[in-house]
Order: sequence, then C-alpha cells, then structure tokens
Amino acid sequence: MTHPFAATLLQWYDQYGRDLPWRATRDPYAIWLSEVILQQTRIEQGLPYWERFMQQFPTVEALSAASEDEVLRLWQGLGYYSRARNLHTAAKQVEQLGQFPSSLDGIKSLKGVGDYTAAAIASMAFDIPVAVVDGNVYRVLARHYGIDTPINTTEGKHTFTALAQELLPPEHAAAFNQAMMDFGATWCTPKSPRCSECPLADTCQALHDDSIDKLPAKLKKLKVKTRHFQYIYISCNRFTAMRRRPAGDIWQGLWEPLLIEDTALPQFDGTLTKLRTDVKHVLTHRIIIADFYRLDCDTRPHLPAEYLWIAENDIDRYAIPRLVEILLQSIKHN
Ligand code: ADE
Repeated sequence: MTHPFAATLLQWYDQYGRDLPWRATRDPYAIWLSEVILQQTRIEQGLPYWERFMQQFPTVEALSAASEDEVLRLWQGLGYYSRARNLHTAAKQVEQLGQFPSSLDGIKSLKGVGDYTAAAIASMAFDIPVAVVDGNVYRVLARHYGIDTPINTTEGKHTFTALAQELLPPEHAAAFNQAMMDFGATWCTPKSPRCSECPLADTCQALHDDSIDKLPAKLKKLKVKTRHFQYIYISCNRFTAMRRRPAGDIWQGLWEPLLIEDTALPQFDGTLTKLRTDVKHVLTHRIIIADFYRLDCDTRPHLPAEYLWIAENDIDRYAIPRLVEILLQSIKHN
C-alpha cells in the first residue's frame, strides 16, 4: 500500500510538478544528461545546455563519436569540467557495451555515475524502484520526520536513504523521485518554505516543533588549518630559553623553546644550525609544519619577556608537547 506521505506527495506533484523536457522521455541518455548537467547547476541555467546537447548529440552514439573538444566547448560555462569529460568517457563505455545498461549496477559502472545519478536514471528510465537521495530529499525528510541526524555523516546517509527507500511506492518510483526533488526545490525550500500552503503540514514534525530552520542538521567540518612553526633551541653557556604556552591556543601551559611563527627568522649573534625542515605534526584540527634550529651563542640574545632561561640539565622537569620532544631528540643526536 502506498504510504500516506507518498500518496500526498504524488498528488501534490500531479498539480504542481514542473514541466521539464526530460520528464517527457524514457530515454536513459536524455535523463542521464539532464542529471549530470543539473549537478551543481540550477534548472534555469542547465535547461538551455540540455537542449543544445540533445540537438547536437541526440544519442549516446553521437556523443561518443564527438571529440572531447566539441564536448567541452558545448559544456563551456557550466563549470566542473570533469563532469563533461566523464560524460564523454561514459558515452564511449555505453557504445562499447552496445546498449545503455538497464540494471542499477550496470548504470553505476559508468564513469562518473554515483549513487544519486544511478538511482535517478534507473527509476526514471527503467522503473527500477530505487530512491534518489539528493539535498532536496534530505531536507524534506529531515523536516517532515523531525530527524536531526547530521546529513553529512555515514549514519545520516544511511538513515535518510533507508527512509526514502521505505517511502518509495515501487510502482511509482519515477514520479516519487521527481516529486521529492521538485517538492524540496519549490515548496520545502531551505529558506522561507511554503508551510502555510503545504499539503504535508499536518504531519510535519519540524513544523510542529518549530524546528524548520534547524533542519536538516549538518555537522560542521572544522577546517584543518596549517601553521608554520620555526623552533630555535638556544644553547648559551649551558642555559636555554623556554616559555610556557599561553591560554587560547594549542598546548596551553606546556613549555617550548623560542618560537617564530609566520615571520622570517631574526638575526642572531652566534652559530645558527638548521637541524630539520618540514617536520609534519598532525593534531585534531591543526597541521603544524615545523623547522628546527639550534643556536649556539656566548651572550644571551634579547628575547620577549615570557621566555625564561633555564639550565639545559633541567629541561626534563618541564612538560613539553610531543613536537618539542622530537626537537629535543634531534638536539641530542646532533
Ligand atoms: N535536480 C536534479 N535533477 C532533478 C530532477 N530530476 N527533478 C528536479 N530537480 C532536479
């Protein structure tokens, strides 16, 4: 039996679904082309490209016979040119096969065709009951079912894919998938969704909880930042300079030798020896690339006040980060 959610959605689609040219065809090539063009491209922008491609290369054979240059020229302006190159390569694969593959695995074996595109082609061209899961589908389901599992996690992908699959009426796979995407693109939009005229409002968990703006949830990927450290171990009459790392940064409270970050090394009196370069140290949210130097001198250089002169023999008494431990080891072996 068709799930009430699917029934309502299909009704909505009958009334409000967009009239798009690739929906009037069962030609897998035409559908595939539309999906590849519409990845990272808005429908209004993509539509004229689809029309030009269909005119110039009406069949997969025509596309496979084209030169890469011709394909790229026609693609010009869409960006992400690997999509065009993959499309061209896959057209040659199809030509080799003798026909467009008609199973989900066969479709996925084409270059550049992932889960999303394969599901779209399989359902729309071959009525294979497999759910499409794109950004629209995540949003519609997260809101309607009030699911706050982040969509950019393995768990989220599994949860939403399984739910979409469960809701999909096997005998209306193509229409259901199109409807989900259209509904997400035109009604259940990221900003200012049309909840007051939504046919699914009565059963929408997020609308009920006032959490429309919070869903779908996304895990913030912390950007891994690279920092460049230059450490100078100073040896001056059996004393060395160390400081405690300040609050508000990595390694708070741990000790380190003279650190120069992001600026050129100053001039020193004495002998400066480079011990190691580009030592890569990976932390959870940071990558540190460090150079180690040793400075041997007779008079102490003037340093910022936070550096203390300590006896080299006493270094073991200070808590140091792992990277400084590696530096001290290279001192011992030098
Ligand atoms: N975006 C990408 N493919 C689409 C489709 N088939 N229908 C609606 N929006 C889409």
